[in-house]
Amino acid sequence: MSRIAYVNGRYAPHGQAAVHIEDRGFQFADGVYEVWAAFGGRLADSDGHFERLARSLSELQIDPPMTRAALERVLRETLRRNRVWDGIVYLQITRGVARRDHAFPQAGTPPTVVVTARTIDFAAAEAKAAKGVAVITQPDQRWGRCDIKTVALLPNALAKQAARERGGYEAWLIDADGLVTEGASTNAWIVDADGVLRTRDTGANILRGVTRTALLQIAADLQISIEERPFSIAEAKGAREAFITAASAFVTPVVKIDGVQIADGQVGPVATRLRALYIEAAKRTAV
Ligand SMILES: Cc1ncc(COP(=O)(O)O)c(C=O)c1O
Repeated sequence: MSRIAYVNGRYAPHGQAAVHIEDRGFQFADGVYEVWAAFGGRLADSDGHFERLARSLSELQIDPPMTRAALERVLRETLRRNRVWDGIVYLQITRGVARRDHAFPQAGTPPTVVVTARTIDFAAAEAKAAKGVAVITQPDQRWGRCDIKTVALLPNALAKQAARERGGYEAWLIDADGLVTEGASTNAWIVDADGVLRTRDTGANILRGVTRTALLQIAADLQISIEERPFSIAEAKGAREAFITAASAFVTPVVKIDGVQIADGQVGPVATRLRALYIEAAKRTAV
């Protein structure tokens, strides 16, 4: 079946869907994005993603192109036209089209809006999670506002490519103090040697993952001991468990870091349980 994309008010076949060459997204990576998981054609963690989108736009002073209700209709319609039941829907909003000049274009320049959707092979994702994935580490070379979900993802793309070239699924980014910030496109977690569930606190140097926030609540409800505190790569290698979270990966266990096996090299019980509970809750609350 051919894929359909939404671009600025129109639905078009992927091959014909296009934006202008002077779009600020293309010229300057001057735009933001969001990714929702879809279950049964409904949006998972919808509020969290819309809230973060509003914040990203506001931090960059990009005017919201339409109301949340209107955007939701576009996301759902894109899922429907692509016959995506379980999958992801991607939204990008840029500052729009203007003659190339670093400074912002004049007020009232309409933002560009693009939406695409694709199916996720749930069985394949489950099989991957059951085996666990390998991560590698890379220096964190990103800018100082990683809390904004911008499309300026070159350092993330380079880190992910380095991971792929070394047989890894994800790259964990390491700051100047030797502490893990997050993954190239995921948040990073461990169950440390003392059994404490740890993920980095959210400053400007990581993205406040919507899956991360949902999972912290689930873990708190289970009365798991949690600390939002950075961990070193040595702590991660000596951890009982490690895993990553993202809208497109849910909770995916990590069994190897830079070639070092985590614990016995098997997927751990905490990650397995949190994955099942997260998916169950996300399906139940999808709208
Ligand atoms: C750098 C980074 N960190 C974390 C995440 C996870 O965020 P979420 O759970 O909202 O998908 C993403 C997702 O794209 C990301 O790009």
